[in-house]
Amino acid sequence: MAISASAHLLSQKDRECVWHPFTQMKTARLPIPIVKGKGLYLYDIDGKPYLDGISSWWVNLHGHAHPYIVEKIKSQAGQLEHVIFADFTHAPAVDLASGLLSILPGNMSKIFYSDNGSTAVEVALKIALQFWHNQNIDRTKIICFKNSYHGDTFGAMSASGKNELNRPFWSHFFAVETIDPPIKGDESQSIYQLQTILRKEKVACFIFEPLVLGSGGMIIYPADGLNKLIQCCRQHDVLTIADEVMTGFGRTGTLFACDQLKQTPDMICLSKGLTGGFLPLAATACTERIFNAFLGNHLSSAFLHGHSYAANPIACVSALASLDLLLKESCFLQRKMIASSHKAFCKKWNGHPKLKRCEALGTILALEYQTKKTTYFQSIRDSLYKFFIDRGIILRPLGNVLYVLPPYCINRDELDFIYDHIILTLEGDL
Ligand SMILES: Cc1ncc(COP(=O)(O)O)c(C=O)c1O
Repeated sequence: MAISASAHLLSQKDRECVWHPFTQMKTARLPIPIVKGKGLYLYDIDGKPYLDGISSWWVNLHGHAHPYIVEKIKSQAGQLEHVIFADFTHAPAVDLASGLLSILPGNMSKIFYSDNGSTAVEVALKIALQFWHNQNIDRTKIICFKNSYHGDTFGAMSASGKNELNRPFWSHFFAVETIDPPIKGDESQSIYQLQTILRKEKVACFIFEPLVLGSGGMIIYPADGLNKLIQCCRQHDVLTIADEVMTGFGRTGTLFACDQLKQTPDMICLSKGLTGGFLPLAATACTERIFNAFLGNHLSSAFLHGHSYAANPIACVSALASLDLLLKESCFLQRKMIASSHKAFCKKWNGHPKLKRCEALGTILALEYQTKKTTYFQSIRDSLYKFFIDRGIILRPLGNVLYVLPPYCINRDELDFIYDHIILTLEGDL
């Protein structure tokens, strides 16, 4: 369908003044101007709907412009839009912190607010390092999984390990130790690697994406191996950080991925779905033991870190409203329906000759297409993206890995609509 003159004009104007994230600006198609969101759909300037199969970069939980969240935001904006969060507080921040602590796994005791996933991770890493520093204990090494992704700021990038996406910055990374994720069959190798590092290095913390490495290609792994890794860390008094920026708020079948673990982490990073996808906000939760290591009579032992928009009141009410919706029985049933639909799809299509794997974890469905090499820079990625966007479906493959991660308001017919198009890529010419 040809786009209208006004759509073209806006896209052209965008090209003149905007630099988009994760985009090769020389070769990218003109961006699609979106003017409205409602439920599962985004609408362009010409009124064409796009089914949002990836929750707008994994942030949206309940559908776009959900009226319940909209009303809460409107009312808060007219009451108090922002206040510096040092020396001041407000009810939305306090209510949200206590609400999160009541549902988070483990013994989380305090919430430190920031404003995006990368900063939630930076905060956790800095807390881990200062935790040891404050006690005059020499522990500075950070351990992470190969293929992990924790964000695009320098600390988060360093703690993701070196990969093709962050190559230009390698020389500025701090050193980390990497281990293989405990994928089914590789658990003992992963544990051996961790134990070797724990024996020889002065390790401050181990950071991981629980149960699924998201940006690394939706690599799903079972809880057992992770339980053992956390247990090893405990034995060596190494702090563990669960990065639930992507997995939090129901994506993996439980409220948090760590709910599926027997062992619990010392810190949890949250963002993305926290506000239901309306506003930027992040939270880093930690245990009382960690918090106590920052108490003292001198400012120098305090955590001297903060962001201008930390605990923004409008973002906090958005998060409170999103939690109200998330904890409803109806939302739980929706997540269950999505999970069982994905499972049934995998049962039928796993083993297809065009696929290396087809698997699901909760509301996440991942399909890895057969290619000679698995990297982020794949031409199949562009063909798949174009195939779906031309048919009004937003799915953005990670290299040769196509995934579906929908808002929870999606219904069975809409899921089938996505599945039918995926089947066309398998059975057709693509
Ligand atoms: C597991 C994980 N951690 C951190 C981040 C970074 O979040 P943000 O893009 O909000 O900085 C992401 C983003 O995809 C993520 O998936």
